[in-house]
Amino acid sequence: MKLILMSKPENQILIIFGASGDLTKRKLIPALYALEIQNLLPEKFAIIGASRTEMSDEDFRVAMKDGLQKYSNEKDKSKVDDFQKKIFYQGVNADEPETYKKLATKLSDLQKLLGIGGNSIYYLSTPPSLYGVIPKNLAINTLNDQSNGWKRVIVEKPFGYDLQSAIELNSDLVKDWLEDQIYRIDHYLGKETVQNVLVTRFTNGIFEPLWNRNYVDHVEITSAESIGVENRGGYYEGSGALRDMIQNHLLQVVGLIAMEPPSSMQPDAIRNETVKVFQSLRPFKEEEISKSTIRGQYLSATIRGAVVKGYREEVGVDPNSKTETFAALKFFIDNWRWGGVPFYVRSGKHLPTRVSEAVIHFKPTPHYLFSRKAAPEPCNQLVIRIQPDEGILLKFGMKTPGAGFDVQNVNMDFHYSDLSNQRIPEAYERLLLDCMTGDSTLYARNDAVISTWKFLDPVLKAWKNDSVIPVYGYPAGTWGPEQADDLVKEHGTTWRYPCKNLSDDGIYCEL
Ligand code: BG6
Repeated sequence: MKLILMSKPENQILIIFGASGDLTKRKLIPALYALEIQNLLPEKFAIIGASRTEMSDEDFRVAMKDGLQKYSNEKDKSKVDDFQKKIFYQGVNADEPETYKKLATKLSDLQKLLGIGGNSIYYLSTPPSLYGVIPKNLAINTLNDQSNGWKRVIVEKPFGYDLQSAIELNSDLVKDWLEDQIYRIDHYLGKETVQNVLVTRFTNGIFEPLWNRNYVDHVEITSAESIGVENRGGYYEGSGALRDMIQNHLLQVVGLIAMEPPSSMQPDAIRNETVKVFQSLRPFKEEEISKSTIRGQYLSATIRGAVVKGYREEVGVDPNSKTETFAALKFFIDNWRWGGVPFYVRSGKHLPTRVSEAVIHFKPTPHYLFSRKAAPEPCNQLVIRIQPDEGILLKFGMKTPGAGFDVQNVNMDFHYSDLSNQRIPEAYERLLLDCMTGDSTLYARNDAVISTWKFLDPVLKAWKNDSVIPVYGYPAGTWGPEQADDLVKEHGTTWRYPCKNLSDDGIYCEL
């Protein structure tokens, strides 16, 4: 599957801060190479890697080539050498405004040498503590000046640590940058199947009439990862599942599932609708938090013969840490469409498999004509599989052939891979290309980010301060603490476990 663009982005230079970090090597450079292969990069284009380490253009190119061999999904590596010629490097100490002068010189030299002009994107792929510092230092050195071409800044997540810090970060940014120059990236919005939520909802007349409190019983969104925190213990200690996955990725999915139809596909038309959803999230009352939220932490376990470390034994993690590696929430959206419909959201590390999906559980028929025993599940479900095996599954009851009226649930299952035999583009490909063309539809606007922090702030505070809200342990490789089941049980339901039948080689399998 290819990204389609009517014309190439304007000539520009992309400056990546944090260039020696993992994200650059694993995601950004492979995404840019994929754009090169598809002939979607600007006619004249250069990448400048910037970070504290001093190295030559050549050293950086070699490191990026190595990353491409390891992490690029492109089979065609024939353009690697040409692509490498577009890569440059400049050592910059992000804290010191003076060192940006070297970057300014490198930029203007390249602009002249390659005839690129003054358009630039600054990508902040650095520790979050630098998200306010770098844009300020760029501005001190007039590198945000748009008189000779546009300037954009991409800010990686997390945008803030809580409500207050997000407000402060934003007010720092807007001192020197306009809102339409700031691109807050949330890579879930770049995933094909997340975007497909819009298409599924708003091109198919059959779903929209059912998409409301009259027909929907509850909505469930899961993002499970089979890996632990790996080498990111230090970062994760200060984050946890709520900040790392729910505040951004999963609530953005909630926004698309729950929004009203936008008036057009213009960025602000869509973002206006998702922000209304976030603003309608029913605030958590302090006394309800222990019932509506569950947190857990993975414990050491043996998974398929291999011993897996518990979270507290991971490098960079406090042996008494209370940071959650699993979080589950129940909440409501107080508006006309969703009043009274519970939303259940969960995310965790070291769960049985890697799967992200949103499930719309429809209400059962008002009266069972057939024996309940025969109906294995009361509700029709629409499962939007975000990853892996991207696609959409509709579950409904059918008569089992033979005597009587036994009902069995069957699947109508569409796999995205059936649409095309080409790979599905990585989220970063789409998002980088969108920023290059100035399309911010799939980037989070400040009011959305602030609203989601505002919604979760009481939970963050209660989890931090209230020692009676336990951090439940769960053995690595299970679906999180058992207590998460109680959250949904009171609504008379269970979580969907997409791969109870996980095969020995860990391949995802649909029930
Ligand atoms: C990142 C989180 O934003 O998303 C990681 O910081 C997480 O902890 C990752 O592993 C998951 O992304 P994906 O695309 O693999 O679902």
